[in-house]
Amino acid sequence: MAGRLNILLIGSGGREHALAWKIVQSPLCAKLWCAPGNAGIAQQAECVGLDVTDHAAIIEFCRETPIDFVVVGPEAPLVAGMVDDLEAAGIKAFGPSAGAAQLEGSKGFTKDLCAEFDIPTAAYRRFTQAGEALAYLEETGAPVVIKADGLAAGKGVTVAMTLEEAKAAVEACFDGAYGEAGAEVVIEAYLEGEEASLFALCDGRTAVLFGTAQDHKRVGDGDTGPNTGGMGAYSPAPVLDQKLIDEAMTEIIVPTLAGMHARGIPFVGILYAGLMITENGPELIEYNVRFGDPECQVLMTRLKSDLVELMLASVEGELLAHEPQWSDETALTVVMASKGYPGSYGKNTPIAGIAAAEATGAMVFHAGTALKDGQLVATGGRVLNVTALGSGVGEAQRRAYAAVDAIDWPNGFCRRDIGWRAIARES
Ligand code: AMP
Ligand code: GLY
Repeated sequence: MAGRLNILLIGSGGREHALAWKIVQSPLCAKLWCAPGNAGIAQQAECVGLDVTDHAAIIEFCRETPIDFVVVGPEAPLVAGMVDDLEAAGIKAFGPSAGAAQLEGSKGFTKDLCAEFDIPTAAYRRFTQAGEALAYLEETGAPVVIKADGLAAGKGVTVAMTLEEAKAAVEACFDGAYGEAGAEVVIEAYLEGEEASLFALCDGRTAVLFGTAQDHKRVGDGDTGPNTGGMGAYSPAPVLDQKLIDEAMTEIIVPTLAGMHARGIPFVGILYAGLMITENGPELIEYNVRFGDPECQVLMTRLKSDLVELMLASVEGELLAHEPQWSDETALTVVMASKGYPGSYGKNTPIAGIAAAEATGAMVFHAGTALKDGQLVATGGRVLNVTALGSGVGEAQRRAYAAVDAIDWPNGFCRRDIGWRAIARES
């Protein structure tokens, strides 16, 4: 086993705060840095104002410090090849190569892989011309799903309930609504069911189940209003029982890993499968190549094993020897966001009461926060992740909202019903 490591974490969201909190608990971690970080991460790490799109600057920082291990949180640097560049510079890094990150970076790539390796997913076609896409819509009718091929910050997907909506979405993509990401469009069949997320830690050959969770993408209670990055989550997701988990691992995750290996772009890192639980079992909606945000916050709260040891095993191709251990409790996180999110919102609004919230036993992971003259302020859309454990979703939910209510942030809001599907199932 390696000696104690200097670790650099890339990112600034609630996901990275949860990763930082877990990384510094590892006996393998000598010191943690984070670029760029936030006010919460600064409790665990030394935050450095590096431009994370400037890979040369990151490499220079790693050499000077020196950093032994880099953990990349968000998708953009992965798709941009940060892990490839670090490895070329001789620096060990957790996460997929740019080639393997195509699983998130190109929806068409993933659909073609599913078709080749017989992985259950919605029927689809890829288009680079509006005329052909519009003609195809006349054949499919609605409901139908229109997706910009590339990374569009979670905004490139339209679930069209009418043909008019579908046509407008195709035209918006080809008119440049999502920039380069929309130069190609995937049109796919509408899947019916309940959504859940399954995570697998991968080392290129071996995939180890890394928990399940359910996110809440809509901004409003009862899953209403526009889509967001995620307004809350819990883990485990009871909708994914052992049988469905086994099915998803065998029919979706394992053939994906085998397919990527066969293509010469083995997947190393966290593979996040967005699943639809249909009448025919789990089908793949999409892959992400990193932890979910806020799903990571509930996974890290439940993980009993040493995260750094697991990440190193992933990079070194030694996952077969590892079995992650989890708390039997349920974790639930409530996202507090700036009023107006996911639209425009006020910045630098003051927040108080974090210590009171944490005194209830909950944990508060920060996303868009900063310290301005000693005052904690909100600087982003999603700002805090108030996270609690409980014997079931109901208890975790009560504890999380008791902590939310201790926070004094007049410009903040949250959903009041995180966990509702599972609670309905519990009762
Ligand atoms: P994605 O960015 O691919 O996860 O899509 C965003 C959201 O659109 C998903 O979380 C689903 O709610 C929905 N969605 C995507 N693809 C489909 C599909 N084929 N059928 C039904 N809903 C879908
Ligand atoms: N919460 C959804 C995501 O991280 O993609």
